[in-house]
Order: sequence, then structure tokens, then C-alpha cells
Amino acid sequence: MPVLRNIAQLATCPRGNPQDDAGLVANAAVVWRDDVICWAGPATQMPSEFSNEPTLDCEQRLVVPGLIDCHTHLCFGGWRGDEFALRISGASYQEIAAGGGGIASTVTATRAASLGELRRKAKSILDSMLDLGVTTVECKSGYGLDVANELKQLEVYRQLNRDHPVDLVPTFLGAHVVPAEYAQRRERYVELLCNELIPLIAREDLAVFCDVFVETGAYTVGEARKILSSAASHGMRAKVHADQLSDGGGAQLAAEFKAISAEHLEYVSDAGIEALANSGTVAVSLPLASFYLGEAFMPARKMMSAGVPVAVATDFNPGSAPSFHLPLAMTTACIHQRMTPEEVLNGVTTIAARAICADDRIGSLAPGYLADLAIIDAPSLNHWLYHFRPNACVRVLKRGNWI
Ligand code: NIG
Ligand code: FE
Repeated sequence: MPVLRNIAQLATCPRGNPQDDAGLVANAAVVWRDDVICWAGPATQMPSEFSNEPTLDCEQRLVVPGLIDCHTHLCFGGWRGDEFALRISGASYQEIAAGGGGIASTVTATRAASLGELRRKAKSILDSMLDLGVTTVECKSGYGLDVANELKQLEVYRQLNRDHPVDLVPTFLGAHVVPAEYAQRRERYVELLCNELIPLIAREDLAVFCDVFVETGAYTVGEARKILSSAASHGMRAKVHADQLSDGGGAQLAAEFKAISAEHLEYVSDAGIEALANSGTVAVSLPLASFYLGEAFMPARKMMSAGVPVAVATDFNPGSAPSFHLPLAMTTACIHQRMTPEEVLNGVTTIAARAICADDRIGSLAPGYLADLAIIDAPSLNHWLYHFRPNACVRVLKRGNWI
């Protein structure tokens, strides 16, 4: 039963705490057995039964639950650096997409890549995420957009989940955009999703959630309703990319389906916020997408005052958010969304866990939770998020094993 002691500040992030209370404990210790936490709290209160167990000295650093990136598009072919330059010169994300670039160009590159190539690329990114203290990653399909290539992306996730220490939670995003070959008969693609792909993916247990991008240029609320109904009838709970570039009623749709989470929400209306508060849906804020696109940020303070829990994630993808640096997203949320460090930390731990239906197992340092934690070379949470560094994480414990 290893004991981690001499922790300057421990963030326990209890489930159900108010978002602004990350359960901070000064001069703390943590004890685990195998892959499960047995005890966490002030060192002076540690039960004497643990006092003779082997100890590891944290040297007065910060300890946080293993971070959870609850919204990524981890697996894709190619990159889109040229579009970055075009946007800097004034082209908008939507103009680039309308000209055949954007998501469609990543679909072409992903279809052209082999499973092995995609797996190697995603693995090296996961390695870097783990170095930053990230121990669980939600990952979406949505760059295949046909049967073979959606399955190829989900198979990459299945293999990595088996072989890599980071736990992956796959989401089916076959409704990312309408693939070019269906542009003139989009209802046929919606039928393919509802009648073929969703049943197949559910049968093969390849995804936990089903996501739809509801936006001008992507899917209408009516189409999304059909897709999410099919997913629900096959046991897949909804996620929605909602109100990212305009208020299209995506938040209300997420609430209607009791979605586990609604993502983006930069342009959410007051009615949308109220609907999310009533449905208990988590709002997932993606500040790096706003940062990179020079767009509005989700009104996180308004959300939290309305009683909507706010998770924070990277949205890592080759277009709108080409960075997997979750601590960068955290510091950005502090500065641009006026979320406090404690609100942000809960947003990447227990609330992020709730956004993937796992807050009874991960995201908190409490007895019975998985022994996933990160040692951060900072004396406090405030110091960590203020003094931004390439990587302040010095050690990661995943399921009770040091990485
Ligand atoms: O979450 N909004 C839709 N999908 C991604 C962007 C994907 C891309 O640009 O390749 C997002 O921002
Ligand atoms: Fe996204």
C-alpha cells in the first residue's frame, strides 16, 4: 500500500462539490492499494495503519486527480497548417470549409491513411498527453464519414485503449459534416447513419456516445433528432456540438435528448442555458477553439450561475484547435472565461468525468476511485495555472502504476 506524502497541496475534487470548491487540502497524503485509492486527506489525520507502508516524498508539490480531456478528435490524417495562415490573413473558418477545405480535407487525408499510420500518429500524441498528466481521453470519430473509414478510426481507438496506459472513451461522430459524395442527397447519408452505422457500432461496442455537429454547413436540428433517436434506441447516449459558430438551437436539442454533454456553446442563448440547467447536461467549454479561431468564448460564468456544470477540454483536432495541451486550455479558461483555478480544475476532473459518465470511478481522489493522479511541480493550484510552463507535470500515476 504505497503512501504519497509531503504534498504541499492536494486537490481531491469531490464529486458533487460546488464547482468553485476543488476540495483543496494543505500538507496532505494519499494512500492506494493496487489500482484504487484507499485514503486521501491531511497528513496529520492519516490512520496509523498506513504509517509503516512504503512512502514516496512529494517534496512539497501539488497533487491533482489524473486529468480528463473529455472532448478530442484524436485520430486524423494530415494537418491543416496552411488554413491557419489563411485565417490569419482574413479568411473565416466557414469560408475555408465552403471552399472544400476544413473538415472535408481532413476526411480526404484520413481516408487515405492506413490504420497503422493513424494508430502510430494517435499513439505519439497520447504519449505527450500522458506526460502532461492526462490519464483519460474522450476521442471522436468523424473524419471517415463512410462505413469503412469510421470503423477504421474507431478500431484505432479500440487498439490504443487496449495497448496504451491512457483510458480512451470513444464517441461516434459520423454526423460531423455531410460527406461530399452525399451533398446532393444528404437524407441518404442520414439514413446510412441511422440504419447501418449506428446499429453496427453499437453491436460491435465501438463507441459509448453518439455526437452530432449541429450548425449551418453541418447538420440541422431535424437531422440531428433522427440520428440521436437512432443512437438512443441502440443504447448510445447523446453528445452535441452545439451553437459553436451561431445559435442554432443545439443546446435545446441536447436538453431534449438529456444529452450527457453539450459542447462549445459559444453562441448559446439564454433559453439554451436554461434548458441545459433543467436537463442536467454538462456544458463542455473548448477555449482553445475560441482562441485559435479568434471567436467568442462560451459564457462560462453565466452557465455556472444558472446551475450548469462546466467542463473544460482541448477539442484537439487539426482545424479549430490543433493543440492537445490541456493545461493551456485551463489557463486560457481562467483568463478569457474568468473561471477560477478551482472551477477549472473541477472542470477537467470530476465534471469532465461526469461528461463521459464516469464520475463514480475517476476525477476525484477519494476512497474507491481509480488511483490516477499527477504530481505537478508547483506549490499550489493557483501557482500552476498562473506560471504557464511547457510541462509542469513531473510524475503520473495511472491505475496505481507509475508511468
Ligand atoms: O469541434 N466543430 C466541429 N468540429 C471540430 C472542428 C473539426 C475540424 O476543424 O477539423 C470542433 O471544433
Ligand atoms: Fe469538437
